[in-house]
Amino acid sequence: MKERGNTILIVDGGGRGTALVDKYSQSPHVDKILAVPGNDWMSRVSRKPVQIFPEIKTSDVVRIAALANKFGVNLVDIAQEDAVKEGLVDMLRRFKVPAVGPTQSAGRLEWDKNYARSFGQFWKLPQPRYDALNREDQVGKFLDSQENTRWFVKASGLAEGKGAIPATSKQEVLDAIKWLKKEYPEATKVFLIEQWLEGEEFSAFAISDSRNFRILGYAQDHKREYDGDKGDNTGGMGAVSHPLLTNDLELQREVENIFTKTIKAKPGGGYRGILYLGGMAVKANGKLDPYVIEFNARWGDPEAQAIVPGLKVDLFEMGMEAAKGTLRRIKVSDDGKVRVAVAGVAKGYPRSSEYSQAKGKQIFGLDDAEKLDNVIVYGAGVAVQDGKHYVNGGRLFYIVGTGKDVLQARDKAYEAMEKVRIEGNNLHFRTDIGLRDAARLRK
Ligand code: AMP
Ligand code: GLY
Repeated sequence: MKERGNTILIVDGGGRGTALVDKYSQSPHVDKILAVPGNDWMSRVSRKPVQIFPEIKTSDVVRIAALANKFGVNLVDIAQEDAVKEGLVDMLRRFKVPAVGPTQSAGRLEWDKNYARSFGQFWKLPQPRYDALNREDQVGKFLDSQENTRWFVKASGLAEGKGAIPATSKQEVLDAIKWLKKEYPEATKVFLIEQWLEGEEFSAFAISDSRNFRILGYAQDHKREYDGDKGDNTGGMGAVSHPLLTNDLELQREVENIFTKTIKAKPGGGYRGILYLGGMAVKANGKLDPYVIEFNARWGDPEAQAIVPGLKVDLFEMGMEAAKGTLRRIKVSDDGKVRVAVAGVAKGYPRSSEYSQAKGKQIFGLDDAEKLDNVIVYGAGVAVQDGKHYVNGGRLFYIVGTGKDVLQARDKAYEAMEKVRIEGNNLHFRTDIGLRDAARLRK
C-alpha cells in the first residue's frame, strides 16, 4: 500500500456514496476521489478533489474497469449491486486493481435469492421455511404441507427492490407470482415462497477479507413512504444507528454467528467486501432470535449515512487490508453516538411518473441546515449550479442528526429539515424516523 497519493474510485451515485466519499476523503492516504456515476454533492463533503462520471452506468463494468486502469486507481469501493452482479471485481482483478466488494459468484448471495436460501439451509443459518419453484402448479403442494397461512412471494433475481410481495391466501400467492412474472420475467424464472416471519427488522453490516470479518454497525431502515410505515415501499426514507433493538448482547452474538458461518463457508470461493445482513428479530421464549431475511453484497442506503460518519477507522486502510486478506490488522470502533438520517424526497417518490414533475425545481435551505452543529447533509439527487440547488431525482438528500441518544439525534435532524423547502411545496420527508426508539427511551 502506498502511504500517500492514492486515488480511490467509488461506484455509487446516491447518499450512500456521498457518505463514503466524506469518510474516504478523511484518510491521509487518499489524494483524489473518482465516482461512477457520482453526484454533485460529493465534492461538497469531500476534503479532497472529486471527479464524477455521470455518463457511466454502474452496470457498465467494462468501462468502469477501463477508467480505473486509465486513472491508476489504487482501490475501488463497489457500493452498488449492479456492478457486483455484472462482475466488476472479477474484471478489476485482471487489471490487478484491489477492490472492496465480492466477486460475481460470491455476490450471488444478493443477486440470486434461491442460491442464498439453499446456502442458508446447507449451513444451517436461521431463516424462514421456504420452497423454490418454477411452476405455478407446484404451489398448492407446498402451501398444503405448511401450517402457517402468511407468506412472502419473491423473485429469485434482482427486481429493483420490488421483488418481495406479502400474501395471506393461496389466491394472493398466485396473484403475486403472476405479477412478478409479468414485471420481472427474467428475475422470476425461479420464485420463492417463504414463511412470513413476525418480528422487528434490522440491518447489520460487516466487512470481510474472505477469512476474517469485522462488524461495522447496526441500523434500522424505514422503507415505507409515509409515517407509521404506510404507503409504498421505497429505497429507504430514513435510518437510525445504533437502534436500541440491536443493543441486546445475545442478539449481537447470534448475528456474529451468522456472519461467522457465512464467511467460513466461503460462498463463491470466498466473500470479500461489505456484507449486509437484512435480519428479522423474532421474539421466542423471552429472547430475541435473529433470522436472515436477505443478504446484500454492499452497504445499505440510507443505513450507510447513519453508520459511516461514526466509524473510527481509516476507510482506505480497512478496504486495502480487506482486499489483501489481512483484515486482522484492522481495529474498528465507533464514536458511540446515535445518528438519525432522514431522507428528503421529491413529492410522489417512489413513483417516477409523479416525482419526475418536480425535476429542476429549486431547493432552498440546505446551506442553513448544514450550518447547524451535529448535522450533516448528504446530497444524492441534487443538482448544484452556481451554488444553487435543484431537484434531480427522487431521493434528493439525507439530513443526518447526531446525539448522545436518539432523542437528541432526532431533534437535530428535524431542526435542520425544518430549514429546507422546495419550490412549489415539493418536499416530502417522514416525521417519525427513530420515533419508535424515542418512545422506548422515554418509557
Ligand atoms: P427483500 O426483497 O428480500 O429485501 O424483502 C423486502 C422486504 O420484505 C423486507 O425488508 C421485509 O420487510 C419483507 N420480507 C421479506 N421476506 C420476509 C419474510 N420471510 N418474512 C417477513 N418479512 C419479509
Ligand atoms: N436499505 C435498503 C437497501 O439498501 O437495500
